[in-house]
Amino acid sequence: MFDISAQASRATHAPQPVRTAIFPVAGLGTRFLPATKATPKELLPVIDTPLIQFAIDEARAAGIERFIFVSHPSKASIERHVRQDANLARQLRRKGKNQIARKLEEAALSECEHDIVFVMQDEPLGLGHAVNCAAAHALPGAVAVILPDDLILGKGCIKEMVDAYQTAGVGHMVASMQVASDKVSSYGILDPIETNGQIIRARGMVEKPDATDAPSRQAVVGRYVLDGSIFSDLDRIEPGAGGEYQLTDAIAAGAARLGLAGFAFSGTRFDCGSKAGMLAATLHRAQQDDEFADVLASVAAPMSAAKVTVAA
Ligand code: G1P
Repeated sequence: MFDISAQASRATHAPQPVRTAIFPVAGLGTRFLPATKATPKELLPVIDTPLIQFAIDEARAAGIERFIFVSHPSKASIERHVRQDANLARQLRRKGKNQIARKLEEAALSECEHDIVFVMQDEPLGLGHAVNCAAAHALPGAVAVILPDDLILGKGCIKEMVDAYQTAGVGHMVASMQVASDKVSSYGILDPIETNGQIIRARGMVEKPDATDAPSRQAVVGRYVLDGSIFSDLDRIEPGAGGEYQLTDAIAAGAARLGLAGFAFSGTRFDCGSKAGMLAATLHRAQQDDEFADVLASVAAPMSAAKVTVAA
């Protein structure tokens, strides 16, 4: 873990524009096999919306111009989902299915409005390595990183962070939430200095510590706004936890120089890298849509506790 003096808590980093978002999507999704044998985990749907779509919509709402997907050669269908498919839209319109054709067009990224870049991460060398695969394509300024299997519903998390980043006076900002102590070893964990509203200034962060060594229970979840110098720090780090190149270590390396803050986001986060999280997200969305009231009631009826409880 990197430690810094109290002076970093007063760091006043000049805000940079955030024009690039990086989506690490190369992971093989072993926790969802066999569902992910032929279907990338980022295309698994919460009802009818694939996880990658939520991530794209979030970035679009934050005014991102360049979308960089760090993918894997076996996951070509992600690109098919992301880009417009004029043929499919035409076929749907020919059959009079105009509404769904329009929905598809609105969901896909348009090359007229956005830069879309796909780079390949052939080997699973860690999240830090994945983000660094995007280095040559990032626009000047800070970059957003969005992990699609951390689904955050409610207020757009990346927009909220990009807005807060402009005045926080730190170089790196990471989405953060408190977790139970038996969960800290599954996350990057902040070493906090002070909290002011949604901003949690921190000395550093450490990847997946043992509960006994953890500096706090303030976990980092998959949204980051990172100073552009993250790439030179990623070039310098050694393999860390799990023998992988950890994004956490590069963030921690820049914390003293740039200032680091956690951001207590407003939305509800679901760990859609886990089956329980995926189910919770699905139930949460179903509960918000009258179309599913009957089916939820019929599923809940035989249970003694009449309501299906949705846990984040
Ligand atoms: C990654 C990061 C970790 C972060 C987590 C959030 O871990 O390395 O710091 O807390 O995402 O979901 P992963 O879940 O990919 O092992």
